[in-house]
Amino acid sequence: MDVKQAKQMVKASLSTKRYKHTVNVKKAAVHLAKKYGADPEKAALAALLHDAVKERSKEELLQILQDNAIIAQNAQNSPAPVWHGVCAAILAQTQWGITDPEIISAIRCHTTGKPGMSKLDKIIYLSDMISEERDYPEVYELRQLAEQDLDLAVCTAVEKNIGWMRECGKTIDPLSLQAYEDLKQQVQKAKQEMEGTCHE
Ligand SMILES: [Fe+2]
Ligand SMILES: [Fe+2]
Repeated sequence: MDVKQAKQMVKASLSTKRYKHTVNVKKAAVHLAKKYGADPEKAALAALLHDAVKERSKEELLQILQDNAIIAQNAQNSPAPVWHGVCAAILAQTQWGITDPEIISAIRCHTTGKPGMSKLDKIIYLSDMISEERDYPEVYELRQLAEQDLDLAVCTAVEKNIGWMRECGKTIDPLSLQAYEDLKQQVQKAKQEMEGTCHE
């Protein structure tokens, strides 16, 4: 499946509102890919497919996870809002002809993040949170950070997500906590290196 086919598929299967979100995520992802030296084509494909099954029923998503237990890796034990990313990643491999592991990974972890996120994982996670139609108060800060420092922006985005979920008493996927710890370390390391260079 290429970008054009992916666009056609999601247009046909999603509500107008979610399709618009999807196109906006694609726009943000292509922009960030160009800015930070990732492959814009891969970013476009991952963005177009990230929410492709978000409007399917919980039962249907659970069925996909159960039918593909090896790929799903116990994802049914994760909070239900996480399932649509894992299911889209499963269908990408099994039905939509996506073979690129980077694209599959970015689709899969777009709601949770994960430790050791690739540049594309970070771009898709962040693009999903700063897409044009989003207007929650913190989005302006995240958009600004996204233009300055990808790692810092994603780290802040994951931190905010964890904070919101805690406030609402929602279960936090362990992957998000691991992602945050990992990103925090990356950001601190970069800061230390920067300070080191400044002092030389
Ligand atoms: Fe999503
Ligand atoms: Fe999304």
